[in-house]
Amino acid sequence: MYNTLETSLENGILIVTINRPEKLNALNKDVFSDIETVVREIEGNIAIKAAIITGAGSKAFVAGADISEFNDLDKSGAKQLALRGQNIFFLIERCSKPIVAAVNGFALGGGCELAMACHFRIASENAKFGQPEVNLGLIPGYGGTQRLTQLIGKGRAIEMLISGSMLDAPTALQHGLVNYVVPQAELLEKTKSVLQVIITKAPLAVGACISAVNSSLDPSQNGFEKEIDAFGECFATADMKEGTSAFLEKRKANFQGK
Ligand code: COA
Repeated sequence: MYNTLETSLENGILIVTINRPEKLNALNKDVFSDIETVVREIEGNIAIKAAIITGAGSKAFVAGADISEFNDLDKSGAKQLALRGQNIFFLIERCSKPIVAAVNGFALGGGCELAMACHFRIASENAKFGQPEVNLGLIPGYGGTQRLTQLIGKGRAIEMLISGSMLDAPTALQHGLVNYVVPQAELLEKTKSVLQVIITKAPLAVGACISAVNSSLDPSQNGFEKEIDAFGECFATADMKEGTSAFLEKRKANFQGK
């Protein structure tokens, strides 16, 4: 179904593996269009409750945009590429179902940006994060300057962007770029176990949390108003009635996403 991705659905969790290990899973046009398709599938398919994005092989999550596709671009082509990349990464960020990056190695350039567009990140001990675009006479184009600043703060983000230097996994954890660091052999199991808990929660409430948090970082929205609206909307869901009844009846809630 996909040229550049492998997917497998396990207990409601779609594991998406970017599969170009010989090019360290660099994001070329085909990978981008496959990612766009798979995120639409995650959003639309009721059998999928959450997703993990990871990279094939033990070396790289994604080592960036495919630099070999940059040669033919002029100024306007480059802007179109950045716009397309940003729009696809917005699809991930705005997905109502949790999408977590399991960062299994280098997450550089567009790879770091892809990981940052996910709702949160879990890294293996060998993971390395960087925005090395200045080495190429470039800057990030897929949201990296914005999301890095949001995640690790302005001073750290600027240093990382203008030095092109990489953060190792323990430093990424210390800076809040990742939520956990685990041995590489345990990365997928850890990510699945975190998501297994999340997918037992009320799906509409989970989606509303993601959306309200996103609003806090969107200057065109008032996140506090968004929270009030979403809080009210939850009261119109069957799952809210089920969740509160289950609590009062001292039983486990059985959420339907309605
Ligand atoms: N775009 C295209 N190809 C890439 C790539 C990228 N971003 N990153 C790695 N590759 C390719 C290499 O060209 C090489 O291909 P080849 O075997 O056909 O020559 C293959 O992947 C393996 O990479 P290599 O550089 O040989 O591995 P390494 O272990 O020596 O170095 C990195 C690993 C990640 C440090 C190095 O590949 C690198 O710096 N990549 C580019 C990172 C970057 O600048 N990303 C931002 C892009 S905007």
